[in-house]
Amino acid sequence: MKYLLALLFISTFVFAELEAKSKNSNWWKEAVIYQIYTRSYADSNGDGIGDLNGITAKLDYLADLGIDVIWLTPFYESPNADFGYDIQDYMTVGKEYGTLSDYDKLIREAASRGIYVINDLVLNHTSDRHPWFINSRSSRSSNKRDWYIWHDPNDDAPPNNWQSIFGGSAWKMDALTGQYYYHFFYAGQPDLNWRNPEVQDALSKVMRFWLDRGAAGFRLDVPDTLLEDPEMPDNPIGEGLNWVGDPNMLHKYNMDLPEVHGIMRQLRKVIDEYPAAILLGETGSPETIDELLVWYGESDELHLAMNFLYTNVRELSAEKFTRHVIESDKHTDIGWPVYLLSNHDRTRHLSRFADGLHNNAIAKQLAAMTLTLRGTPILYYGEEIGMTTQDPVRLEDVKDPIGRLFWPDFKGRDGSRTPMQWNSSQYSGFSQVKPWLSVPASAAKINVEIQLNDDQSILTFYRQLLAVRNSSSALRHGEWTHIPTQNHEVFAYLRHSLSESVLVILNMSASEHDLDLQELVMNSTFEVLLSNHDRRFITEALLNLQPYETVIARVLKAQ
Ligand code: NOJ
Ligand code: CA
Repeated sequence: MKYLLALLFISTFVFAELEAKSKNSNWWKEAVIYQIYTRSYADSNGDGIGDLNGITAKLDYLADLGIDVIWLTPFYESPNADFGYDIQDYMTVGKEYGTLSDYDKLIREAASRGIYVINDLVLNHTSDRHPWFINSRSSRSSNKRDWYIWHDPNDDAPPNNWQSIFGGSAWKMDALTGQYYYHFFYAGQPDLNWRNPEVQDALSKVMRFWLDRGAAGFRLDVPDTLLEDPEMPDNPIGEGLNWVGDPNMLHKYNMDLPEVHGIMRQLRKVIDEYPAAILLGETGSPETIDELLVWYGESDELHLAMNFLYTNVRELSAEKFTRHVIESDKHTDIGWPVYLLSNHDRTRHLSRFADGLHNNAIAKQLAAMTLTLRGTPILYYGEEIGMTTQDPVRLEDVKDPIGRLFWPDFKGRDGSRTPMQWNSSQYSGFSQVKPWLSVPASAAKINVEIQLNDDQSILTFYRQLLAVRNSSSALRHGEWTHIPTQNHEVFAYLRHSLSESVLVILNMSASEHDLDLQELVMNSTFEVLLSNHDRRFITEALLNLQPYETVIARVLKAQ
């Protein structure tokens, strides 16, 4: 068996390896990324909106947590039709978020703590208030006309049946010039024409602008939507309705076109001018691992492609996660996996997986899995204290336009973007004034200050877990091997480097289970590095696992 062979590598007692974090050219393979929804992390100037200086003030917290990279959601000048994902000026810091020198300071202060910063790069569209679009719409002969996608009406109707992902036609008539423009998202987010080399050049300049200031790369917003079929045929329609009540559409001619990989290679060339910089893609459309792997190209496209197939495993089911991870882990030579559970567009994972009885153990278990698989994990701010999604209660409080549009069936994404819960004060330590989104009532009990002083808290567990990961060569870059357990509610695996083996056991059920470790334990002793129960050693061949118990153990001795 593969895992037994791995154990044989270890002939003596192996103690924790405290390897210095070295930023080699593959640093991103060992990194832990922490996503900050910039508007909601910390407000430094009392306007109720999170900002860059607020984040700088929390860098010690982040360094102590043990993360390596922060990914900031857009902080550029924006009219906020989509809260920053509609950019009015790519080379500014929006007034709400600070100044360019605040950005420079954040980069400097982060670097002094060994933390990199990556920016969000929205390539597919700009704001309709971007000067490029204002110029483009001004006349059919504008020198920026071809920077966006304009089309004559089809009789009196839109050019084709393409739908916006946020509902309705993806075409908006612009009376000034009598043509429609195309917007895959809101009408306030017109799509750039990526077939135009001038657009490609302009966005390369944007990239260099931030890389020169010290950004360690970019998270690419929806790279799968960059190109459309120039013939613009109607898309095929499937059965039923989608989440916004439109007919289910197969985005055959306006998503995932093969030519988009040429664009990825161009972006990668720009990135490669900067030795440490990386591209992390929001690769949301793949339905299979093979479709995901395409985004890595021949190591000449994305460094990291988010694995939403993992994010989409809907049940806390050992069988489902086992099946998925076995599949994902097969091709690490082609594409280094990226595991994440939550982000600013989705219901937070604790709200998806909590059962009301074992919430604490479940939060810790999901963290343990995500941070011990082979790959680069992305954490979403607040998950480390067990924040849950708190949807607005009244329509008048909703900020996310799709929440207002589809209320009450869909309450928008505000619920997963609420202010970070720092302490029990009125506005949770996020701000001195009423924040742009309400602080959930849960903040009185679920917050950083309380959890830092509680050795059983979710936050303490995350800190311990990250410390274990950061000091373990096996967890940072070792092989991953599934351990079949005969028990369909337990997911178990081994991570092993040349000098170390770490066993991870996850009981993904509310029942106790006796796990037969005969084969594994026979010649070995395990030191428990971390568990969500009080367990220090595994010496028995039969391990009695508690509900949702998580055990991470280092092999101390194998003969
Ligand atoms: C994906 C982002 O994550 C989401 O928040 C945004 O609305 C769309 N892209 C459009 O930019
Ligand atoms: Ca502020």
